[in-house]
Amino acid sequence: MAPQTRGHTRTQTSHYHVQKRRRERFLEDWRRTRQTVVHGSDVPLAPTARGLRSGVFTGADGDRPTRSMDALVHEVDPGVTSTLHRHSWDAMLFVVAGHGWTEIDGERIEWGPGDSLYLPAWAWHRCGNTGLAPARYLSFSSEPMLATMGMAVLEDAGHTPVAGLPGRPAYSPGIEGDDPYARRLRRLAGDQDARRSGRLHTSWDELELVNTPRGTRTTFLLDRAIGYQASGITMAMFEIAPGRGQSMHRHPGEAWLYVVEGRGHSYLGAEPEGGELHPWGKGDIIVVDHYLWHQHINDDPERTAKVVRIHMFDSLLETMRALCDPLVLFEEPPDHIRDAQAGDPATVDWPEPRRPTWP
Ligand SMILES: [Fe+2]
Ligand SMILES: [Fe+2]
Repeated sequence: MAPQTRGHTRTQTSHYHVQKRRRERFLEDWRRTRQTVVHGSDVPLAPTARGLRSGVFTGADGDRPTRSMDALVHEVDPGVTSTLHRHSWDAMLFVVAGHGWTEIDGERIEWGPGDSLYLPAWAWHRCGNTGLAPARYLSFSSEPMLATMGMAVLEDAGHTPVAGLPGRPAYSPGIEGDDPYARRLRRLAGDQDARRSGRLHTSWDELELVNTPRGTRTTFLLDRAIGYQASGITMAMFEIAPGRGQSMHRHPGEAWLYVVEGRGHSYLGAEPEGGELHPWGKGDIIVVDHYLWHQHINDDPERTAKVVRIHMFDSLLETMRALCDPLVLFEEPPDHIRDAQAGDPATVDWPEPRRPTWP
C-alpha cells in the first residue's frame, strides 16, 4: 500500500478546513453578541442560591458572552448573609448603595456607597447587609479569562463556618540553587507571597481626584499603583465636567465604563470622524473595546458625570501588545488635537465628590 493512502491521508476534511471553519464561526458569534451600551434597565435581577439578587451586564450567564472579564450587578437585602464561596478567579466590587460587610478569608470589611473591594482568587468570601435598605454593588471578574483556559473553578460552601474550610492552595517556598527548577520555585513563591498580601479595600473617603491631560479628573480605585495584586483587572474612576468630554483614543481588550452619576453620550467610530453617537445614563455600562476611536461627552450643562473604568491591562492587554508588536494597540491623537478635545480641566470648578446613590 502506498503511504499516501494509509490512515489519516484518507480523511476528506483536513485540519486546515476544520480550523478555518471553527475560527470563522467563532468570530461571527463574537460579533453578533457584541454591544456598545448595556443599559441598566435591560439587566433583570433574579434571586440566587447565594441569597443575593443578581443580574448579568456582560458575561456568559447573560446574553452577552465575554472573553476576559464579566460584569454583574448584585443586591443584598437588609439582614441577609450570603453563602460563602470561593473561586479560581479574582474579582473587583464597586458599591453603589447601602451599607454592609464582606468577609474575605474571615477578615471582615465594612463598606458603604462608593467603596471598592478586591476579592483574591481562592479566598473564601461572603457578604451581608447591616443597613435598613437593600445594598447594591457591581462585580467585575476574570472568570471568562480562566474559563478560556479551562481553569475556572467555583466552590460554594453554603453557611459552613470558614474555620472548618480548606485554605488557599498550598505552594512550596523558594529554595536555594541556580538551576531552572529552583529559579521557578523562588519566582512563583515570591509571586504568591506578593499576591496574597495585597490590599483588599479602598474607601470612598480616601479618594483624591486629580486632573489629567485627557480633560477629566481621575483616581485609581483598585490598581497595582496603590497596592493591589490582581490578575490584571484594574478599576479607576473619572469625572467629566459639565458639557465637556474626555479626549479620543482607541484600544482593544474588554474595557467598560460603569456610569455612577450623570448622563451623556459616547462617540464610537472606525475613524475619528463619521462614527456613531451612543447615549448613556446612570447605571449603564458603556462598552469601548472594539478598537474603535471613542470619546465620552457629559451632556449635563450643570453637573459632572462620574464613570468607573474597568479593563484588564496589566495581564491581557499587555500580553496582546507584546504578541502583536509592531501592531500598535493603543492610540491617541497627537498632543495638540488631544488638548483641543480635552480642554483644560484646571479651568473647571470641580464640586466636592459625593458618594454614589441608587436608584
Ligand atoms: Fe465570588
Ligand atoms: Fe478607552
